[in-house]
Amino acid sequence: MKNSEIFFGKDIISLDQFNRKSVEKVFATAAKIKKTPTKKLLKILPGKIVGLMFFEPSTRTFSSNSAAVKRLGGQTVEYQNPLSTSSVVKGETIEDTTKMMEQYCDAIVMRHPIVGTLKKVAEVADVPVINAGDGIGEHPTQALLDMFTVFEKFKHIDNIKGLIVGDLLNGRTVHSIIKCLSIFPNNTLYLLSPKQLRLSNKDLEEAKKRKIKLIEIKSFEEIPADCHFWYWTRVQKERFTDKQEYEKLKLNFILTKKLVDKKAGKNTLIMHPLPRVGEVETEVDNDPRAVYLTTEAKNGMYVRMALFSLILEDRK
Ligand code: CP
Repeated sequence: MKNSEIFFGKDIISLDQFNRKSVEKVFATAAKIKKTPTKKLLKILPGKIVGLMFFEPSTRTFSSNSAAVKRLGGQTVEYQNPLSTSSVVKGETIEDTTKMMEQYCDAIVMRHPIVGTLKKVAEVADVPVINAGDGIGEHPTQALLDMFTVFEKFKHIDNIKGLIVGDLLNGRTVHSIIKCLSIFPNNTLYLLSPKQLRLSNKDLEEAKKRKIKLIEIKSFEEIPADCHFWYWTRVQKERFTDKQEYEKLKLNFILTKKLVDKKAGKNTLIMHPLPRVGEVETEVDNDPRAVYLTTEAKNGMYVRMALFSLILEDRK
């Protein structure tokens, strides 16, 4: 199969769909797009329309997908809160809503609070569907942009040592990153979370079967030297039924400038999918190693441009 055929017309629902070749293709395409003049990019998707339906709030994923389509010369049909602005409010099913969007759009990007909904939507839709986050399940395009950011810096995505901190139980970006790094050899992730927010036993068992080493640690003291990246995450308030429990756990691990100076390597990337809600001090923002407000966020647009071009671009 030719490289260009790996993605054309396909859905992106989970990192389970990816192998070494397909991840490398996304990274190579994003790197190429990043260097391509703006005017030339506009010729990639003229006449294409992508539907964006976000049943959960979003700053980055929504905006970067919208910008990505437009920067490639395409257009969007956008629903930022379909639960109050679409006919879902009248009781329309997700299946019928999907079939309607498919009549108007060449692809659908959807975020939904319920795990598995995107898989169901992809089965119903006759156009490509991209998972923009399904509850506590996965966020595949975020993981791809995060790992592209690591790849761009270190020029490899194997033999990586990373630290992930925060809500590992509910963090969908974390679940996709573990799967992404599992595709490549000799990767190790150090995991630090409140014990209530450890990876689920199911996720830990699954990871054991994959090519990745997960090491759970209990404190900042155990953070190893010279990680390629630190990946902080927010405790996901919206997944808690007990708000007191959330308050108890939300700021257990705060990233401070002092910690960065003491424990991060000179090349360690300081990352966060955002939004942050207090777990990363703003004093860290100006550290040259901190990329969450800059390169990491911007790469979200480039990686999504890469995916749209691979999935939708007409190839003669
Ligand atoms: N990283 C991320 O998914 O951010 P948003 O929720 O703002 O899209």
